[in-house]
Amino acid sequence: MEKDLSNYRKSYEKGELLLKDTPENPLELFRSWFNEVDQHFPQDETNAMTVSTIGLDGYPKNRVVLLKKFTYEGFIFYTNYQSEKGKAIANNPNICLSFFWHGAERQIIIKGKAEKIAPNLSDGYFESRPKGSQLGALASNQSEVVESRDVLENKLKALEIAYKGKEVERPEFWGGYIVKPISIEFWQGRPNRLHDRILYTLEENYDWVKKRLSP
Ligand SMILES: Cc1cc2nc3c(=O)[nH]c(=O)nc-3n(C[C@H](O)[C@H](O)[C@H](O)COP(=O)(O)O)c2cc1C
Repeated sequence: MEKDLSNYRKSYEKGELLLKDTPENPLELFRSWFNEVDQHFPQDETNAMTVSTIGLDGYPKNRVVLLKKFTYEGFIFYTNYQSEKGKAIANNPNICLSFFWHGAERQIIIKGKAEKIAPNLSDGYFESRPKGSQLGALASNQSEVVESRDVLENKLKALEIAYKGKEVERPEFWGGYIVKPISIEFWQGRPNRLHDRILYTLEENYDWVKKRLSP
């Protein structure tokens, strides 16, 4: 089996990123890029990001999750703390998040440390979810082998009956992580492969330093 992709080629021409136009704080640039993509280059799930962890087996693993909040402090997503990624983070909190917004020809790569958010914050988000999603979180031992789809669906049905007319409490094994960034790289595609790359790194005195990288 063979498929040659050597002719797949595109010129990137939608924008530029010059050091002189960038703010001191990369979270502000993140916010303006996010808002611009959402407004001018609509795509499915602008908040979908790749989360990369170093697994217990020593291999990196990527998977997509949804970014649910960002502040000057960091980036928050929700998941099962006992999932493969949860176990990986417990062992090594150094993780990498990335976004590829193809309409805008932009990529952002964030390295940082993940930590669990306060339980009351996870409670607040869990309460805001539709009941079906709450029960789905309860029904799934995320990342564990499950015998069949039927087993999952039967578990959900049993939970629907058990929780009829009742509120669902957040299970302890489910909640949020905040990723506190130590570096953020912004990539804007440019013609002739001379892309713009601006890397922000957090210094020991908590100042952000920015530099241009070669494409
Ligand atoms: C668009 C999209 C959004 C997703 N959002 C989440 C999410 O917010 N939280 C989550 O735990 N998994 C989410 N997933 C599923 C994960 O990619 C992954 O399958 C799951 O978290 C188990 O990963 P793990 O076994 O590496 O821990 C999403 C998948 C896709 C494709």
